[in-house]
Amino acid sequence: MKKIKRIGVLTGGGDCPGLNAVIRAVVTSALREYNVECYGILDGFSGLINKRVKKLDLNDVSGILPRGGTILGTSNRDNPFKYPFKNDKGEIEYKDVSDQVIRTIEYNELDAIITVGGDGTQSIANLLHSTHNIPVVGVPKTIDNDLGGTDVTFGFDTALTIATLSIDKLHSTAEAHHRVMVIEVMGRYAGWIALHSGVAGGGDVILIPEIPFKMDKIAEKIKERENRGKRFSLIVVAEGAKPEGGDVIVARKVHDPNDPIRLGGISQFVGNQVEDITGIETRYTILGHVQRGGSPSPLDRILATRFGYHAVKAVMEGKFGHMVGLRGENIKTTPISEATAVPRRVKRDSDLVKTANALGTSFGG
Ligand code: F6P
Repeated sequence: MKKIKRIGVLTGGGDCPGLNAVIRAVVTSALREYNVECYGILDGFSGLINKRVKKLDLNDVSGILPRGGTILGTSNRDNPFKYPFKNDKGEIEYKDVSDQVIRTIEYNELDAIITVGGDGTQSIANLLHSTHNIPVVGVPKTIDNDLGGTDVTFGFDTALTIATLSIDKLHSTAEAHHRVMVIEVMGRYAGWIALHSGVAGGGDVILIPEIPFKMDKIAEKIKERENRGKRFSLIVVAEGAKPEGGDVIVARKVHDPNDPIRLGGISQFVGNQVEDITGIETRYTILGHVQRGGSPSPLDRILATRFGYHAVKAVMEGKFGHMVGLRGENIKTTPISEATAVPRRVKRDSDLVKTANALGTSFGG
């Protein structure tokens, strides 16, 4: 195996609390433990395509552990295999510029690239590895927690904490005004944030993509509470939840070649229907990007730090095309192809769903 002297690191896809903690751990452990230099690639794959790379020293990563966002910048538009450009008519088309990635790597003499990102970023990394033999090691990031190859992704715990605290705040108004409050959380096509924050925040109804809902079941739960003198209810809904036989609500389409759909708006749909059926005043709140902003939780800082160190270790051991992940107590590596093959979804028969059900929570199904 070629001696590793320089490692590049990039952060791709949506930002997520803990990215800076990973960068810090990569740079610090590479320098201290292995005497290997690190280079930051700016704005995800865009930096690799456009040769935007800068050296990172210990001082560059000092003090960034608790900071949200990413000091390297990120992008979810710049897939080297489907790079957008405007044709003569001003329309967006896509072309393969993956050769430019090789040129940037050679120019900067990078011996390996650590790609910190979700399924989109890891799939691109894997393709660079399988088609161009680029030595990549992945680090799983996403608030959605929907990536395989790890028990949990970093960023999830922070998003869960923000969502739960938001539910607590909305609880006050629900109770004071005798209203139904519908709280929409992120998660794309997975219900992890909704399920966990719904249970932690005492949601009466939790709607997740994995369990299509029926409006009459939701109304039944709210009526049952009203009959017990509880004149308010909390509904926590995942942005990807959908009614039985219906479809998700698309908020917008974007120029993201990995996933152009942005979900959003299901809380308004559910809220309006609930008000019509039950006659109880209803409000909805879409939490949006606050869920992935700001300082990472202690758990995410720790996980991100472990991932960063273990990604460097995996590079030094030549485990290219693999992604680090938490498996029980330990950090292990999995082929990226395996980690991205099937998105991780909530199982209907999981312990948390069963527990919530046993406590009277309705999933509307
Ligand atoms: O994947 C993270 C995530 O925050 C999803 O939960 C959400 O659906 C999406 O990204 C929003 O993307 P954007 O930042 O492009 O609006």
